[in-house]
Amino acid sequence: MGEFKRTLVTSALPYANGPLHIGHIAGAYLPGDIFVRYSRLKGDDIVYICGTDEYGVPITISADKEGKTPQDIVDHFYPIIKNSFEKLGIKFDNFSRTTNPIHTETAQDFFLKFIEKDYLVKRESEQWFDPEKNMFLPDRYVTGTCPECGHEGAKGDQCEVCGKWYESVDLKNPISQLSGKTPILRKTTHWYMKFNEFQESLKDFIDTRKNWKNNVINYCKGWLDEGLEERAVTRDLDWGIPVPLEEAEGKKIYVWFEAVLGYISATKEWAEKKGDPSLWEKYWKSEESRLIHFIGKDNIYFHALMFPAMLMGYGGYVLEDEIPANEFLNLKGSKLSTSRDHAVWLHEYLELFPPDPLRYVLAANAPEGKDTDFSWADFQSKNNNELADILGNFIHRTVTFVHKYFDGKVPARSELNESDKKLLSEIEKSVSKTGDAFSRFKVRDAVKYMMDLARAGNKYFNENEPWVTRKNDEKRCATTLNMSLQAIKTLAVIAAPIIPFTSEKIWNILNLSETLNWKQAGVTDLKAGHELNTSEVLFAKIEDEIIEEQELKLEDR
Ligand code: MF3
Ligand code: ZN
Repeated sequence: MGEFKRTLVTSALPYANGPLHIGHIAGAYLPGDIFVRYSRLKGDDIVYICGTDEYGVPITISADKEGKTPQDIVDHFYPIIKNSFEKLGIKFDNFSRTTNPIHTETAQDFFLKFIEKDYLVKRESEQWFDPEKNMFLPDRYVTGTCPECGHEGAKGDQCEVCGKWYESVDLKNPISQLSGKTPILRKTTHWYMKFNEFQESLKDFIDTRKNWKNNVINYCKGWLDEGLEERAVTRDLDWGIPVPLEEAEGKKIYVWFEAVLGYISATKEWAEKKGDPSLWEKYWKSEESRLIHFIGKDNIYFHALMFPAMLMGYGGYVLEDEIPANEFLNLKGSKLSTSRDHAVWLHEYLELFPPDPLRYVLAANAPEGKDTDFSWADFQSKNNNELADILGNFIHRTVTFVHKYFDGKVPARSELNESDKKLLSEIEKSVSKTGDAFSRFKVRDAVKYMMDLARAGNKYFNENEPWVTRKNDEKRCATTLNMSLQAIKTLAVIAAPIIPFTSEKIWNILNLSETLNWKQAGVTDLKAGHELNTSEVLFAKIEDEIIEEQELKLEDR
């Protein structure tokens, strides 16, 4: 990928209708943050963009339920979501909102451009209407049987099971979510985007995305084989971005058709905050720029087909180079659910535990190739048996030994024996293997290779028995501790994208003047005599009672 000069990374904009749970994190945010942190450590020019998705039916339904206005709902959840991301160390360069004026302007500008280029046409059609409530039923206001796969209880605009995006009038057995009754059809006008005209360009686009995951390619090919069709991209709804046409009084832009543009408006806002308002164009309008979207699998259609068509249609924009779409994380074998409160909420987790253990566990268990499962028992075991007993223990025993017997200074290294050389090669290997995994979005592998080095370090320490050589072979003892510290330095770097808070602590113990960066990985240059800071507990063990409480809490719900 040497041809790119800079990278723009996005993670799906979460709906501002509820707090975040671990399923969101595992799918679209942690993998994105890990990739971005790795790239930043390498010194790449990279911008990481996100924000809340604040319009559309998902928000109005929450408002209806709570007896509040949509504005109340989004104002309530924006800070909660932003704060949870910050505490977990998901570090965006800008975390915006789709209700910001800059986004309205961007979305309306795209809409008008499509009118001008004749990609949008006005048509009269019949839509579901609830006579009792006297309103049209866009999107999730109606549910029914998916016309594609037969899934019952599919949403009005998209099926969660097969991922298909359809016109809600195509749903079978429709039910109004407002009255619980069968809706009737009533005439209305909407603007339709001629996605069919992008069929060939999208096919070429998909065919040239060589590194994409099979799941993304296969979904797209399937939909392209069926043939793309015109799609209504306006709605009869109060809450949304107004269609910028006089004749479209009261109509709003369909939430997906504007939300994806939130990536652009949030980048514009970022550039403005930096005092260089046109800077966003370097990321969006240059062939030297690489565009990457981190999403969950339910968002594939909108990011891999709809949005590229919009970018092509407008013209002058870069297209997606990568769309690492993840599968789902389940909770104790069943789907996470906000409505059933079957979830581990991020803000609740963060009140009880530090961020890194969750980052580690979700990364080790990332739903890359298939759905995976979270359980508190697994969380406890990974925290206690891997983070504390392997990584934490190796660092702690090494550093306390050096403080106890070497005055806190890096011991000198003498001639290297086979075991030392083997550790050196493990250090080198871990750098290339984790680097390769991070750059290919293989978070699970990266976690494993990182932990393999900590394991090798512990084994090395045990085999070399410095507590014995201290008494009979001081040089050997010093060399053992020196080598262990060199391994710890590399661990701090390669673990940083995954467990950044702990890496900073380790780096601080090593008392190095340079800031942590990828070039330091594998560089075994800690000098004899260099003074270390004192060790601190990096990972506290989690007791059974704490885990039992969490499990009970889940069962109570
Ligand atoms: N809010 C959507 C979801 O949670 C994702 C929107 S991504 C965007 O599924 F790019 F369209 F904003
Ligand atoms: Zn379906």
